Amino acid sequence: MEATSVAAVSLVEELHELSREADGDSQALQAMLSHIVRSFGAQSGSLAVVDPREPTQLRIVAGIDLPAGVVGQTVALGTGVLGKVAQTGEPMLINGELRKSGDDAREERARPRSAICWPLAIKNRRIGALSMNRIGDADPFGDSDVARGRSLVTLVALVVDNANLHTEQMERIERLSQLNAEMRTMNVQLQATQQQLLQSEKMASIGQLAAGVAHEINNPVGYVYSNLSTLQGYVGELLAVVRHLRGTGDGPEPACDIEFLEEDIPQLVSETREGLDRVKKIVQDLKDFSRVDKSDDWEEANLVKGLESTLNIVQNEIKYKAAVVKELVPLPDVPCLPTQLNQVFMNLLVNAAQAIPAKGTIVLRSGFDAACVWVEVGDDGCGMSPEVQSRIFEPFYTTKPVGKGTGLGLSVSYSIVQKHNGKIELKSTPGQGTTFRVVLPRVREGELTEAVHG
Ligand SMILES: Nc1ncnc2c1ncn2[C@@H]1O[C@H](COP(=O)(O)OP(=O)(O)OP(=O)(O)O)[C@@H](O)[C@H]1O
Ligand SMILES: [Mg+2]
Repeated sequence: MEATSVAAVSLVEELHELSREADGDSQALQAMLSHIVRSFGAQSGSLAVVDPREPTQLRIVAGIDLPAGVVGQTVALGTGVLGKVAQTGEPMLINGELRKSGDDAREERARPRSAICWPLAIKNRRIGALSMNRIGDADPFGDSDVARGRSLVTLVALVVDNANLHTEQMERIERLSQLNAEMRTMNVQLQATQQQLLQSEKMASIGQLAAGVAHEINNPVGYVYSNLSTLQGYVGELLAVVRHLRGTGDGPEPACDIEFLEEDIPQLVSETREGLDRVKKIVQDLKDFSRVDKSDDWEEANLVKGLESTLNIVQNEIKYKAAVVKELVPLPDVPCLPTQLNQVFMNLLVNAAQAIPAKGTIVLRSGFDAACVWVEVGDDGCGMSPEVQSRIFEPFYTTKPVGKGTGLGLSVSYSIVQKHNGKIELKSTPGQGTTFRVVLPRVREGELTEAVHG
């Protein structure tokens, strides 16, 4: 092999090595350029690449012995030697005095006398241009130099193209991780919104409940109040008679129907006592329902008791719609979160009442076996089609008019029962009615494994 061919092969090998290290940073491109410029016995050179974001512009990304500030400048495609060569795709050999560029302050003998510029392209895609210059008295370049450089600049074009791809890929990865972060934030926001919704569902239930309780308390308080003013009148009459009998009153003996008072006063007192008992019971049920005096922890509790006290709380919502029939058997206590289960019962009871168009019956049943306890709320209301049945546990699914239902009741109930490792079963026939059954295990899962292995 000729000495020049050997040198060319080893140059290609060296460039190949460099190109493998090059990941597109300007230092690597600078190293490649310097290598090529040196191997051609040139003193200065530049490498310009097409800006992928602005394909009509070339950016000078590397330079050897160029006037200050040239690296980083842009050149429009079609202008200057670099721009023309990059656009036409044809190399250019220039010999003789080269035009002095505006800010080229170099001494006369340091200015280029001979230059070659090669286009960088892959297939017909323009990548950029590479130029080099011999300065002063050095021999000018010839056609053989132009030919020799062709394969080298192809290698440079590949490296630049790889570098662009690499940058693009990095940008894509960056964009993807940004999207990922955005999605994560959205997810957190969604969860917060869901929490808020659950909270507002709870608030809505409390509002509903407060209205019912106010109504329930208002009735007995109303007649207790009116009985008290009647009693006040009676006491006034009796005191006047007493004063007259003692001789301390003036005027004639006051009129007083003692027989009537003897009959009416005990009746008034017992009615008043009954009214107060009702208020006391409602307050007790409310306390049981909300368990204000208990913590929201797991405890052994009786589902039937929970169902009954919840029924009393929502009585106001139900009583005009349905007669409640209780077919309840006593249940063993089970580990549960009683306050939350009461919320489940409340939703089942209110749903049952709302499903009854005019007047109907709600039946409450209970039962248990060795593994489970269950309670049932059945109604003879409108029932559900299979399509409705398949969607009722979806959050926000409601068939009720705006303002009447949020569609969260059953989805909240579902998650509460799931927390207990229990299940909600349902039987429904359109036009005939619906029965929901809440089934809970008698032992918590952790305890079960302890019992088996312990
Ligand atoms: N006992 C029932 N009979 C007939 N349909 C029912 C019954 N219970 C629930 N549904 C149907 O399931 C839907 C969802 O019930 P869910 O309790 O989740 O929401 P909602 O009652 O519509 O609204 P919310 O409970 O939030 O006030 C109801 O809109 C209704 O169509
Ligand atoms: Mg509901």
